[in-house]
Amino acid sequence: MSKQFDVVVIGAGPGGYIAAIRAAQLGFSVACVDAWENEKGGPAPGGTCTNVGCIPSKALLQSSEHFEHAGHAFKEHGIDVAGLSLNLGQMLKRKDGVVKQNNDGILYLFKKNKVTFFHGRAAFAGAAGADGYPLAITGPANETITGKQVIIATGSNARQLPGAEFDEKLILSNTGALAIEGVPAKLGVIGAGVIGLEMGSVWRRLGSDVTVLEGLPVFLGAVDEQIAKEANKLFTKQGLKINLGCKIGAITKGDNSVSVAYENAKGEAITAEFDKLIISIGRTPNTNGLGADQVGLALDERGFIAVDDDCKTNLPGVWAVGDVVRGPMLAHKAEEEGVAVAERMAGQHGHTNFNTIPWVIYTSPEIAWVGRTEQQLKADGVAYKAGTFPFLANGRARALGDTSGMVKFLADATTDEILGVHIIGPMASELISEAVVAMEFKASAEDIARICHAHPSLSEATKEAALAIDKRTLNF
Ligand code: FAD
Ligand code: NAI
Repeated sequence: MSKQFDVVVIGAGPGGYIAAIRAAQLGFSVACVDAWENEKGGPAPGGTCTNVGCIPSKALLQSSEHFEHAGHAFKEHGIDVAGLSLNLGQMLKRKDGVVKQNNDGILYLFKKNKVTFFHGRAAFAGAAGADGYPLAITGPANETITGKQVIIATGSNARQLPGAEFDEKLILSNTGALAIEGVPAKLGVIGAGVIGLEMGSVWRRLGSDVTVLEGLPVFLGAVDEQIAKEANKLFTKQGLKINLGCKIGAITKGDNSVSVAYENAKGEAITAEFDKLIISIGRTPNTNGLGADQVGLALDERGFIAVDDDCKTNLPGVWAVGDVVRGPMLAHKAEEEGVAVAERMAGQHGHTNFNTIPWVIYTSPEIAWVGRTEQQLKADGVAYKAGTFPFLANGRARALGDTSGMVKFLADATTDEILGVHIIGPMASELISEAVVAMEFKASAEDIARICHAHPSLSEATKEAALAIDKRTLNF
């Protein structure tokens, strides 16, 4: 007889593993099935985020930033480093170690919360019967289990450019970009999005000459224009060669190099030669091998699993969360949806507020924002007030030796409600949380302006930007 569960979660990325834990906390019997394998063929739960996404990229961003600081920034602090050299092998090993700690942590959390873990690939094996949906698992685990309810959290894959399939040796997706064994002298990156900028920054800091080729004529179109302009200026100064408005043509592999023919914004035909090429042009939902046809699971026109606002699919008792459904492809969005679904299953009122999901790009300086951009407010015809405060005028930033960037507040012209907060600067990823909380509580800019912020701290720039809304900055 097959093992029966109240809830089966397919995928143990941030959407799936968090949903499984929350469902177990709420008293359901829960199984989570995940296919990811480590190099020894063992389980590696955590999905894209843990294995080839958020975690390893942040590990390498940190290491490469240390390397760059040791080379330049330490000098200003009066620290002379002699004989600086890069041990890339150790850097990659440390990154792998950080990933493994997270894999192991999830297995521990499953045990602690009594979630039954199956290592393998799950597929719907037919219509729901009295025990729920039968799911066939293949791989190290090889059995059929049933779930009265199912949460699909199968994530996404890197989008391929036609004619330039990933071989992870010369043409790299995020997977290969996180594991290059020698610093490439010339690195090409197609797509100046989040991955292109983060991975481009890592390899530039380690010594690569990085050329980024972006299709759109604007840089970081989803980011507030003022912040994006500042970012373009700073990244260019750091040495990233950012080319906008490029039409990519033939990509040809040689023995140890790859050439990219493209037309630049001026219409000139160019062929560039690279030692490695990262292609980061977005991601596609992963519904492969899920047996969606077996049960008539509906996909939308872009291939995502079709869900309503509550993450319900067209099948009774089947839900879907994370990258495999509409909305931003972010780990914390996947987690919020996973928790909300588990709570809805238990008759509670879980919710995910798409208006207050923070975005962070972990470059140096970091870029972080929540809410609407100035260009969106203009397009929506909303009357707003704006206030900015530069880190140059912040004492803590000066002490850190990192004064680039600013905090920008956008508030409703009449009610003063905060509509968007945009930060480029040191620790923007941490600073943005205050703005998220404020917006979730529908705070006004004046609320932030009147709250006592510790001195000296970067967060004073947030308070000052709120003061700037009414032209009352105290330190600028
Ligand atoms: P995934 O994490 O993709 O997990 C899906 C899991 O399901 C995988 O383990 C997969 O093997 C498994 N699976 C698929 N099909 C089956 C099946 N049929 N049976 C069993 N298992 C299956 N987001 C952030 O918020 N912050 C960041 O800093 C960040 N950095 C990133 C850096 C990179 C390089 C990349 C590529 C992404 C990054 N992201 C980041 C995005 C983030 O990784 C995703 O939004 C997040 O992983 C989505 O979670 P998920 O649970 O929906 O899917
Ligand atoms: P992206 O959507 O961020 O950027 C893709 C870029 O490629 C865009 O600027 C787009 O205009 C460009 N592009 C698309 N097709 C092109 C073509 N044919 N030629 C040239 N340029 C082209 O996607 P990316 O960087 O691949 O990342 C995927 C997703 O992963 C992100 O959208 C984000 O959701 C997530 N992610 C999040 C991170 C974070 O939160 N810090 C870090 C990395 C990834």
